[in-house]
Amino acid sequence: MEVAAAAVRRSLGQGRPLRCGLGLRGRWPVPAGGVSLRRCSTRGSLEGVNRPVIDRIIRVDHAGEYGANRIYAGQMAVLGRSSVGPVIQQMWNQEKDHLKKFDELMVAYRVRPTVLLPFWNVAGFVLGAGSALLGKKGAMACTVAVEESISDHYNSQIRTLVEEGPEKYKELLQVIKQFRDDEREHHDIGLEHDAEAAPAYSVLKTAIQLGCKAAIFLSERI
Ligand SMILES: [Fe+2]
Ligand SMILES: [Fe+2]
Repeated sequence: MEVAAAAVRRSLGQGRPLRCGLGLRGRWPVPAGGVSLRRCSTRGSLEGVNRPVIDRIIRVDHAGEYGANRIYAGQMAVLGRSSVGPVIQQMWNQEKDHLKKFDELMVAYRVRPTVLLPFWNVAGFVLGAGSALLGKKGAMACTVAVEESISDHYNSQIRTLVEEGPEKYKELLQVIKQFRDDEREHHDIGLEHDAEAAPAYSVLKTAIQLGCKAAIFLSERI
């Protein structure tokens, strides 16, 4: 019985100090959004966290930021040398910072990535490149659709974490709020670059957002 209890404590990360894999020290790099968390800032604070909720949140957010990176990579492959290349690159750079942060959070909170990453790798790139083949407006329509879905998704997570305990999840909330603001900004950049003038904008946006919902549903669970 005691052996089983110890195994459960181990699986929950209890009864031993949290170790930051990679042996990294110091402060996290400051991403575009300006949030800075200390590495291993969750040390000693994993006790009492709602594991299923945290697992789900970090796994899906990591998958989302990974997918966003692949979308912008696909758009840059097609439109990198066009007039919107620098705008897309700027948004992509922020997504790289977001992904880096969730890579770190996965280690700190001991969350495994979704098994669907190889699929999001291909699907994200195909979506990015495919939308860019419709032209600059098509790429921006894709950005508006995806970023709106992601910022709504982050808002829903913020509500969940506030209900769970804003003090307990203070640092995670800070990260998600900052990223939500960044995604909102990407959404607005898409609109400023004539996303709504893309061919079949409404159909395209609805289809992409349905895909985002499915991706979120799956990445939270597997
Ligand atoms: Fe992002
Ligand atoms: Fe974004």
